[in-house]
Amino acid sequence: MPGKDHRIFHGRGPHVSRRSALVGSAATAACLFLPKPGLTEFLPNAPAGRALGTAYPRRDGPLKVQGAARFAAEQRFPGMVYGALVYSTVARGMIRRIETETARAAAGVVFVMTQENAPRLAPPEPFYASPTGMAGSAIPVMQDASVHWNGQPVAVILATTQEEADHAARLVRVDYEEAKAVTRFDDAAAQAPIAFYAGRELQYRDGDAEAVLAEAEVSVDLDFTTPQQTHNQIEPHAVTVAWQDGILRMHDCTQGVDLSAITIAKVFGLDPSQVHLTAEFVGGGFGGKTLWQYHILAAAAARLANRPVRMALTREGVYRICGGRAPTRQRVALAARLDGGLTALIHSGTTMKIAQNAMTEPFMEAAEHLYRTDTMRLEIRAGVRDMLANTFMRAPGAAVGTFPLEVALDALAERLAMDPVELRIRNEPEVDPTTGKAFSQRALVEALREGARRFGWQSRAGERLGWREGEWLVGTGMATAYYPYKRFPGGAARIRLGQDGRALVELAAHDMGMGTSTATAAVAADRLGLPYEDVEIRYGDNRLPGSMIAAGSQQMAAIGAALTAVRDALVAELAALVPAGMALHGRPAEAMTIRDGALVLTSDPAVRMTLADLLAGAGRREVSAEATAPPPSEARDWSMHSTGAVFAEVRVNAVTGELRVPRITGVYDCGRILNPTLAASQFRSGVVMALGMALMEDTHFDERSGRIANPSLAAYYMPTHLDVPEIDVAWTGIPDPEAPSSARGIGEISMTGLAAAVANAVYDATGKRVRDLPITLDKLL
Ligand code: MOS
Repeated sequence: MPGKDHRIFHGRGPHVSRRSALVGSAATAACLFLPKPGLTEFLPNAPAGRALGTAYPRRDGPLKVQGAARFAAEQRFPGMVYGALVYSTVARGMIRRIETETARAAAGVVFVMTQENAPRLAPPEPFYASPTGMAGSAIPVMQDASVHWNGQPVAVILATTQEEADHAARLVRVDYEEAKAVTRFDDAAAQAPIAFYAGRELQYRDGDAEAVLAEAEVSVDLDFTTPQQTHNQIEPHAVTVAWQDGILRMHDCTQGVDLSAITIAKVFGLDPSQVHLTAEFVGGGFGGKTLWQYHILAAAAARLANRPVRMALTREGVYRICGGRAPTRQRVALAARLDGGLTALIHSGTTMKIAQNAMTEPFMEAAEHLYRTDTMRLEIRAGVRDMLANTFMRAPGAAVGTFPLEVALDALAERLAMDPVELRIRNEPEVDPTTGKAFSQRALVEALREGARRFGWQSRAGERLGWREGEWLVGTGMATAYYPYKRFPGGAARIRLGQDGRALVELAAHDMGMGTSTATAAVAADRLGLPYEDVEIRYGDNRLPGSMIAAGSQQMAAIGAALTAVRDALVAELAALVPAGMALHGRPAEAMTIRDGALVLTSDPAVRMTLADLLAGAGRREVSAEATAPPPSEARDWSMHSTGAVFAEVRVNAVTGELRVPRITGVYDCGRILNPTLAASQFRSGVVMALGMALMEDTHFDERSGRIANPSLAAYYMPTHLDVPEIDVAWTGIPDPEAPSSARGIGEISMTGLAAAVANAVYDATGKRVRDLPITLDKLL
């Protein structure tokens, strides 16, 4: 909706209350507002008409619509050959014999690699196993005859064309000695321990929630399931590799150029400086673009064959070897007083993982931070199954965790004869419910009220308001959205400032379609007091400074913190160039900043020297500085989370069960919005993906064989344009004083809440409380 103003609150300056004026008292706001220097500064040097908040179009946009942006599978090296993989057909066992003679003799085949001739490689380090791990699992890559999941690569074919490689891959014959595998959810769940994730056990207890539930005046206790899901980025995974004079050169699609390079370097026993990995354009990541076996196999085969290799996975290949979201079974039980105040909140359940990674779907995170309650019990168990490694998928935890939580709240509102929006507002906590920390900024109540207003929410007192239009049953529902603020260590950048007043910003960050280079240029422009157009961004290369992974909705926070640090370092460099006799001479660098192409005294910008004069006087064409962001202490000191309110209308065909979602409104509270065009696109794309989760996405894992039965977009459904309505998105835009650039991440939150809003609307329309995703028509008949 071009031209539409998505902000609902205007004109708030830096000294805004951390809580809203509506819910926080002035005294609370005053005592919470403790400005800290450096990281938390609110752009003190940003001139009026600043870049942040301006709707710049995406810098990568023209290249993409012209087809000029080159992705990993479009890069080429001289003499390059094409790779194809053969996937195991058993979930566990040993390769007894692998027959490759026919494939080797096939037209165009250059090289065949199996565990019999693969080089000796160290197992890859998965994320969370080491601070630099980027692999999906620690399973060794083609190092022996053992099979760990149904779909594991067992042979690599290299041929002079992709078609020849694909054909030869079909000629490989493998005999397996099958072993007993754990492939059934029930079997793995029966011995599932408490999950451990990101450095902690996934359980929390405050009081005796079960006892309170048993005695409660009003309560609900419901079970839910969510299915396994597969990543279907528009760009299937690919890598193009060459060994050049001892350097492993990789054109990759990754969310972590630096960590991918370090991880693959360790696999091959190289120094990270011997890996040069670039990923200038990535066609969607969503958590799935990490380091998988195909990268390692492509590099190993390229080395043995002494030929550059392009390994572009088929869509089926992505389903076989690149992980997605694990299935869950969840229980949410709520108890409340008659006034709606929660007295017990129980959110527990079981998910699946593999033995060789540390990724558990942390679906209790929303319950930890959203509502005030007298007692709470949260617990996640993780069963170990022989399957493809599960991994991050947009809003891990919160996407599937907000579904049962927000459906249960809807059911509770019905029992209480209370409006569901009002029930949430009544349980808005003053401080973080589990940590007791103050919120850095939170305006969920405003988001709920504004969402209700924009959507035209009809307040209700527990009764269904759904109506019938011909064959169609129509209903409305709502839910809260949630995603944590994160900033990982590793933020760093280098800025070169030229005599001409132009800046070059270099950093190992990623633009996977969300507009990183555009937003980074705006942050840098405001930090440096330069026009947006005069800032150039280089990114997507592990040889650039820093390690800013594009994950956890944290990349812009890492970048923002890094750019502040570099700006300070640049000012120090420039201050040292001030010649004697100038008014600026002898002043400490901390008292200066850069504004309008000049080094100025912050307290009196009239005391200044232009960069051109400074550099010319010092005989320098440019000045450059590199710096690292301070550790992310803000996330330790404050409760930092984004929230939102989502509303949906559904139409269910009374005859066929067909479900349509004609109207969606989402209002998000994520701190300051850096660029309204990019933000609207991020929010809408998350809603579209969440619509897929609500209605369609379902990886069919055959529990007998451990094989994924629908590895194709012909059998795994995702929303098309016809399934997606106009999506109305808005935001509070209230700056978060603790976040770099006052902005929390926006990439994942709109993936949350929506499935519950749709399910609640379905209940309003039909009286059917669907608690198993996806909500397919068979569940509505
Ligand atoms: Mo996101 S699932 O951390 O890319």
